Amino acid sequence: MKVTLTGIKADVGSIGGHICPSEELLAAVERTVVEQGRGLIIDHRLNYIGDDVSILMTHDRGIDDESVHRLAWDAFLAGTQVAKDQGLYGAGQDMLKDAFSGNTRGLGPAVAEMEFEERPNEPFLMFTADKTEPGAYNLPLFLAFSDPMYNAGLILSPVGGKGYRFTVMDVDHSGGDRVVELVTPEDIYDLAALLRDNGRFVVESIHSRHDGDIAVSSCTTRLRNIAGKYVGKDDPIMLVRTQRNFPATGEILAPFEICHYVSGFMRGSHVGPMMPVKAKSSVSFFDGPPVVSCLAFSVRDGKMTGPVDAFDHPYWDWVREKAAQKAHGIREQGFSGPAMLGIHDLEYVGISHRLDALDGRFVVRSEAP
Ligand code: 13P
Ligand code: 13P
Ligand code: MG
Ligand code: MG
Repeated sequence: MKVTLTGIKADVGSIGGHICPSEELLAAVERTVVEQGRGLIIDHRLNYIGDDVSILMTHDRGIDDESVHRLAWDAFLAGTQVAKDQGLYGAGQDMLKDAFSGNTRGLGPAVAEMEFEERPNEPFLMFTADKTEPGAYNLPLFLAFSDPMYNAGLILSPVGGKGYRFTVMDVDHSGGDRVVELVTPEDIYDLAALLRDNGRFVVESIHSRHDGDIAVSSCTTRLRNIAGKYVGKDDPIMLVRTQRNFPATGEILAPFEICHYVSGFMRGSHVGPMMPVKAKSSVSFFDGPPVVSCLAFSVRDGKMTGPVDAFDHPYWDWVREKAAQKAHGIREQGFSGPAMLGIHDLEYVGISHRLDALDGRFVVRSEAP
């Protein structure tokens, strides 16, 4: 059958700062999805990472379906109400508009969606991350889909060897989606030139060049563009189909062992390593470090089996140690140089206010006679 996977993720409030949602908040979201989703969706799973709640739904209504998006919006509104009642921090943080207007894209929550004809065996992964931005997935996607050092299938599998088509969005552009399509392996250097800039260019989707089938759908939300100011980081969600015409699950996971440095961390204004963690992990040190979780599923006729927690394995304990050391390394230098984001990417206005105030105190020395 033709199935649609819809993953929608939002921060609607958390306990003790930006740490994690409450049981009661999660129960309210779940209740709404169950009650209002009857007859609309086939299956669903609720999860969280840090302070962000994700709703994964399967249905046969295609992407951007108004009723499915409204269901997620209403569920997050119910969660927001509980967050307010409990005095949770940042209640309704990602609900940036007062009213639902047909699609949750552009209203605050992060959305990753794909529609496809189910293969006889249909494995897929859901990645969710906290204290970082959508471009954090750029490097792992680039490596998993175009580098044989990570993806052995590029040379071992005749299908994988045909390469992939990346659709990349310029998320700085407002007033319509500005996108470009690049194919691997031919355009690999152009792709790297774009994807090095995680704050501006973000992988939106990836398709197989063997049969045109969709492999990846990732969110491209920029909360700052919606709200006009910093209201929290655009903690991203991504769906990835694996095996056969796509990379193997382990090939998709492999680049996450790098724990590459991403933007986010404390106040969304720093640089920190992305630590692969178990699902339902919270954050701690310096409101971080940035964390990513990965749940693995199989789907048949829209019914999901799983999840299995892909980062819940002894190998990743060692990787987490490495991430902690990398976090310590960059935190040792506090606000200096690359540890804090550049002035244009800073999520807080405090520094620009200070610089403005200091402006009048600068003097230009007259040249010596
Ligand atoms: P199996 O031979 O166990 O199916 O594994 C194939 C594969 O894709 C491993 O990455
Ligand atoms: P979130 O974007 O996860 O809410 O975190 C915001 C923040 O400022 C953490 O220090
Ligand atoms: Mg928050
Ligand atoms: Mg968050």
